[in-house]
Amino acid sequence: MKTEDNHIAMQRPGGDPRPHATAHDTSHAEPHASHASRASRASHHPQRHAASHAATTQSVMLVFGTRPEAIKMAPLYSTLRNTPGVRALCAVTAQHRGMLDDVLDTFGIRPDFDLDIMETNQSLSTITVKSLLGMDNLLSREAPDLILVHGDTSTTFAGALSAFYHKIRVGHVEAGLRTYDKYAPYPEEINRKMTAAIADLHFCPTARNAGNLRREGVSAGIYVTGNTVIDALRMTVKPDYVFRSEPLRALSPFGGRLVLVTAHRRENYGAGLRGIFSALRALCEKYADLRFVYPVHPSPAVREAAYAMLGDIPRIHLIDPLPADDMHNLMAQSYFVLTDSGGLQEEAPALGRPVLVLRRETERPEAVEAGTVRMAGVDKDDIVALASQLLDDAEVYERMAKAVNPYGDGQACARIAQAILFESGLLAQPPSPFGGGPS
Ligand code: UD1
Ligand code: UDP
Repeated sequence: MKTEDNHIAMQRPGGDPRPHATAHDTSHAEPHASHASRASRASHHPQRHAASHAATTQSVMLVFGTRPEAIKMAPLYSTLRNTPGVRALCAVTAQHRGMLDDVLDTFGIRPDFDLDIMETNQSLSTITVKSLLGMDNLLSREAPDLILVHGDTSTTFAGALSAFYHKIRVGHVEAGLRTYDKYAPYPEEINRKMTAAIADLHFCPTARNAGNLRREGVSAGIYVTGNTVIDALRMTVKPDYVFRSEPLRALSPFGGRLVLVTAHRRENYGAGLRGIFSALRALCEKYADLRFVYPVHPSPAVREAAYAMLGDIPRIHLIDPLPADDMHNLMAQSYFVLTDSGGLQEEAPALGRPVLVLRRETERPEAVEAGTVRMAGVDKDDIVALASQLLDDAEVYERMAKAVNPYGDGQACARIAQAILFESGLLAQPPSPFGGGPS
């Protein structure tokens, strides 16, 4: 693997990879900034004004519900719990019951509040309504100074909306990603735009994301922090990693070239998934040394299609969803990645793994520009053609297999914590932006 300065080394930079939460420690150190600076920023938010004047501690409630939100919020929760001046609370909707619990277990997080909303084959309306009602009930009892939501799921939008109804400030983590196509990804593009309309603080992974928000008229509260997923990778990926899940233990060490596959997006249900799965079958026939590992998302629409079309092929290993640390280390050992996931488009480039994106559009163009990610779409022939180039042409592979981190430097959580303290008047200085550009 080629390395660059900002490459994620296959080691953990200190700390326990599976940190264990304990009961809440509400003792925090003294505040850092003057009342004058605190009052000036708090005055933008009248309903919080009185409380902020007196505050020496900010109570911050992280709200999340799905696997990717949990993976990306886990290092932030850990950072905020260890930040003097912050009292961190964790509320989960459990939009993803099983996959969320896996992440909570991996990172040793015990939520303070669990809305337990998941239903089999849930609809977008069900998730939104149940999350909203659950949050409403919770926020009638708890009144944190700030609520943090992440990304673009239905939990994200409902969490932000509920906070707004209760006049609680909202920080949006992973803000400013856009395709400007209402239905791709669906419903995420609209979820993140509606969340941006509500949010007071916008924690953008990249300068491009911040630029998107500014063009939409957002003029305050924007911080370019890097993506917390890179912080998470630093907790999970290590050179001597031993897989925890039985199927991976049975498969490793992997002979031949290992291709990691994931596909779950709603807009790919039906024809999109059929195109993707036909391409996998064709690639398997074409290349005798290929082995595909596909941890199948538990959504019935995905599972039924995957097992029906791929269940009978020996070199395509359909397995249950993996714990995040297994997944990240498997990615690090793969030859390349085929995915429609958002998170994998950020993680694989950091690990020096080429990615073919099984979508027509992406809100993450930075790695495409860096040359490690290519858009393959969902048509069988296009996917086979691009994958064949990677498999046949060593130069193409080498160009794509360079490690780049356009999405972060592992310090996103520290920047977000600093921004929260700055905004609440407990710190005099804002964080310096990720990438060195204007924030
Ligand atoms: C959700 C998010 C999507 C995100 C994805 C990450 C929305 C609308 N979509 O989509 O943005 O990319 O999560 O994976 O918020 N299920 C289980 N166990 C689980 C999780 C899901 O059985 O742990 C099944 C349930 O039957 C559930 C179905 O999967 O009804 C779909 O879950 P849902 O959260 O509605 O949609 P995702 O496709 O997972
Ligand atoms: N992931 C995981 N186990 C799996 C598949 C994915 O831990 O079996 C991780 C993956 O590494 C990334 C996140 O889940 O951190 C991405 O989640 P997903 O693809 O479900 O959602 P998206 O990022 O597309 O919203």
